[in-house]
Amino acid sequence: MDQSTLVTHDPHDDKHQGAVVMPIYQNSLFTFPTYKDFDQAFAGPDDTPLYSRGNNPTVQQLEARLAALQGGEKARCFGSGMAAISTGIMSLVRGGDHVICVDQAYGPTRELLGKFLSQYGVETTFVDGTSLEAIRSAAKANTKLIYLESPTTLTIRLQDLRACAHFAKSIGAATMIDNTWATPCYQNPFEFGIDLVAHSVSKYIGGHSDIVGGVLIGSAELINRINANEYLLLGGIMTSQTASLVMRGLRTLPLRLEKLEQNGLTVARYLESLPFITRVNHPGLPSHPQHELAKRQMTGTSSLFSFETNLTTEVMKIWADRLAYFRIGVSWGGFESLVTVGKLGPGYESVQGSLVRLYVGLEKPQDLIADIRQASAELLVNS
Ligand SMILES: Cc1ncc(COP(=O)(O)O)c(C=O)c1O
Repeated sequence: MDQSTLVTHDPHDDKHQGAVVMPIYQNSLFTFPTYKDFDQAFAGPDDTPLYSRGNNPTVQQLEARLAALQGGEKARCFGSGMAAISTGIMSLVRGGDHVICVDQAYGPTRELLGKFLSQYGVETTFVDGTSLEAIRSAAKANTKLIYLESPTTLTIRLQDLRACAHFAKSIGAATMIDNTWATPCYQNPFEFGIDLVAHSVSKYIGGHSDIVGGVLIGSAELINRINANEYLLLGGIMTSQTASLVMRGLRTLPLRLEKLEQNGLTVARYLESLPFITRVNHPGLPSHPQHELAKRQMTGTSSLFSFETNLTTEVMKIWADRLAYFRIGVSWGGFESLVTVGKLGPGYESVQGSLVRLYVGLEKPQDLIADIRQASAELLVNS
C-alpha cells in the first residue's frame, strides 16, 4: 500500500462504532469482569491493555501505523525521542560492552553514550561516520552496537547503511539508527539490514510543533524484548493525548514532506548563489559530497540543512535577527521555518567560518528567499 493511503485508512474497528478517528483512551487502568479474565490478561500476549504504562489502545494504534509506515514488524512509542533512543541503546548494550557511534550524532545521544553510560561500564568510540574505514578500525572484540544517525542534523552527513549493517553483522554487533531526518517516507533502514530504528516524532512525524515524543521500530522479537524489560521498567511512555495528536500529524506526513522537499531544495539552491556562503550542506544538491549515496539510500530529502560562511558567528547572529519568517529556535519538522547559528563541538573540525542551520517550513519558498535576500543586503554590499 502506498504510504499516503496507509496514513489515511485505519483498519475498520467495530469496538469504536466505526469512528474514523480512534478515541483517546484517557485512563490509567483497564478492568475485567471476572478474575479468570484478569488472570488470562496477565498470562496472555504482552499487548493486552491492563495499565497505560504498558498498553493503551490509542498509543497502540499509533504504534501499529508507525511500524507499517517504516516497514518494521513492531513499534513502541515513548515520551520523547531521547526516551526512545536511551531505551533502545540500553536494550542493546551491557556493562563491559563497546559501542561505535558516529561523531556528529545528536548532542544528547553523544552525551548519553560518552558520559552517562560510561558510568555503567559502557565504552563508546566516536568516529567519522562518512568513513567505513574509520568504523571498521574502531571495532573491538567487545563491540556490541554500531549507532548511526543518517543523515546527521548539523552538517547533514550520511553513513552507508548497507555497508555498516553488513560490517556489524560480520562482527556480531547490532545496528541502531536515528532516522528522524529522513522520516519513514524517505528512508527504510530495514531494507539495508539495520536492526533498530528510532525517531523523534517531535519533528516531522508530529509535524505541528505541538508535541514531544519518540518511537522505536524493529522486529517483533526485539521490540517484545524491549517491551518486557527497558520499556516497562524505565517507563518513558507516550500519553494517549500525545498519541492522538501524532496520529493527526501522520495523516499528512507524506503530503507535507513532498512540499517540504521542494521548498528546502528551492531555498538551498538560492543560497548556493550567495557570495558569502562557502558551502551549502544539503544532500539533494549535486555539490554535496555524498549526493550519490543519498540518491542510493534515500527516496527523497527533507528540509533541514545548513550552510557555511566566510563570516563570523557574531555577524551571522545579526543576520538571523534580521530574518522575519525564519524564527530563532531549536528543533524542526513543524510548519514554521527556523534558524540557528551553529554551536559546534568535536566532530565538526572541517567547518571553517560559521555554520547556520535552516529549517525550511511550509511557507511559500519565494517569500523565504525574499526574506533571506533582505537579511543579506548589507552582507552582499560588503562582499
Ligand atoms: C536528530 C535528533 N534525534 C533525536 C532528538 C531527540 O528528540 P526529542 O527532543 O523528541 O527527545 C532530536 C531533537 O532535537 C534530534 O534532532
